[in-house]
Amino acid sequence: MLDRYLEFTNSAFGKQFASSLGLPTPPRLQRAESGYAAAPLAGMKVLIAADAAATASAAVLAALRALGATVQVAPGHSGFAAVKAGAQAAGVELHSEGSDSDPIAPVIVFDATGIAGTGGLKQVYELFQPRARRLVANTRVVVLARATADTDSVQAATAAAGLRGFVRSLAKEIGKNGSTANLLEVSRAGDAWLSGPLAFFTGPNSAYVTGQVLAVGDAPKGATAPAHCNQSLAGKVAVVTGAARGIGAAIAQILAREGATVVGMDRPAEEGALGATLSPLNGVGLALDVTAPDAGERLASELNARFGGADIIVHNAGVTRDKMLRNMTPALWDMVLDINLGAILNINERLLQSGLKPGARFVCISSIGGIGGNAGQTNYAATKAGVIGYAEALAPILAKKGMAINAVAPGFIETQMTAAMPMANREVGRRVNSLAQGGLPQDIAEAVTFFASPLAMGINGKTLRVCGQNWLGA
Ligand SMILES: NC(=O)c1ccc[n+]([C@@H]2O[C@H](COP(=O)([O-])OP(=O)(O)OC[C@H]3O[C@@H](n4cnc5c(N)ncnc54)[C@H](O)[C@@H]3O)[C@@H](O)[C@H]2O)c1
Repeated sequence: MLDRYLEFTNSAFGKQFASSLGLPTPPRLQRAESGYAAAPLAGMKVLIAADAAATASAAVLAALRALGATVQVAPGHSGFAAVKAGAQAAGVELHSEGSDSDPIAPVIVFDATGIAGTGGLKQVYELFQPRARRLVANTRVVVLARATADTDSVQAATAAAGLRGFVRSLAKEIGKNGSTANLLEVSRAGDAWLSGPLAFFTGPNSAYVTGQVLAVGDAPKGATAPAHCNQSLAGKVAVVTGAARGIGAAIAQILAREGATVVGMDRPAEEGALGATLSPLNGVGLALDVTAPDAGERLASELNARFGGADIIVHNAGVTRDKMLRNMTPALWDMVLDINLGAILNINERLLQSGLKPGARFVCISSIGGIGGNAGQTNYAATKAGVIGYAEALAPILAKKGMAINAVAPGFIETQMTAAMPMANREVGRRVNSLAQGGLPQDIAEAVTFFASPLAMGINGKTLRVCGQNWLGA
């Protein structure tokens, strides 16, 4: 559904009108218009800085080189020596940042993995404070902290946790011009898997992801880092449930954009819409209710017969049946629980017996409603919180099999689901986030595709909110 207010405030008159009344002026977000390039940062300036004792700079610089970036540095910053040492180790050429009158690089990466105590946080302040006023539209800020389990002291763990508050607050300040800030908490083993997360978080694919914290760890044994980012799903078979429309249709499209063959599933009543979504993608439609008792069996036999199994399973099908608990009938409760959560467990249980290829990756769609809770959504929120717990619980079991599972928690996304909301609720839902607008189905599809791809090899059991830093459950 068109966001008319965003269109209005992006006209010259509308912008002036809204600013003079102190109303929000949502920025136009820069989204990906095509698939990942082999080296997505080629031709782009990236400013890198670090704390003086940073331990991941060589890995970060090697990743930035692989992504094609032109790396800039701030020689006056207190952590410059750490960056220089990292560049020497990684064989990366450094360029000095321009003068104060030059535009700041549109990507800023701060390696804060060596901050040993509270005082060390000042180094982050020193880099960002003088630049905060001058960031170009749609700047991507990525800060790296050492994962708590890999910090050397209570002081270091405290400082690393402090970075969460810094990044979340910075994201709220810089969202006005479409800029984002996110924090990667990296274990030492995770250093080897940074190029994929950096490709996602520094690019247009993460336009609606801001103020988030994501852990990067080790990859399954035998995994290899992707040599380039383009067509990373070529030769892979991906299943998407609820693929006929909305977010599911966008997921099918973006997975296909990166090279996957998509098997889309939806209710038999949606067979026509399912065909319309999948035929331009040369995908396969399967008219099958996810709650059918034989859904797992039929999906597994279809996958085995046609493709010898699937590489990617995206559980997207979902419904809302909102009622205050006092008015909720058992039928409304059961329906939402069965579709949004029960079906995921049943289908996966069957697929894990047979129907998957080695290294399979699962992605489940949760919701920020499952994090913050919502009056009238006890049923829905129970399922969406359940999805987060399911991913956490299943991850270590899958890791032993060389597989992974993650979840994406959308905020307010422009789909038929949200178009059906009363106008006042919809307008509020759109604005209460750092980017002052709803997300698009593409935004969820980009995050799902990232998790489904080898770019997210070091990520397992995690949930990423794609919500523009919605205030709900923030
Ligand atoms: N739109 C949002 O703002 C938003 C926010 C948070 C989470 N989500 C989640 O994202 C997912 C997609 O939502 P959407 O907005 O695209 O919804 P939508 O209603 O537009 O699409 C959902 C799709 O799932 C299918 N589906 C429903 N029940 C099914 C069943 N039993 N078997 C097979 N298919 C079934 C529907 O036919 C439909 O094609 C859902 O899990 C939803 O809870 C959406």
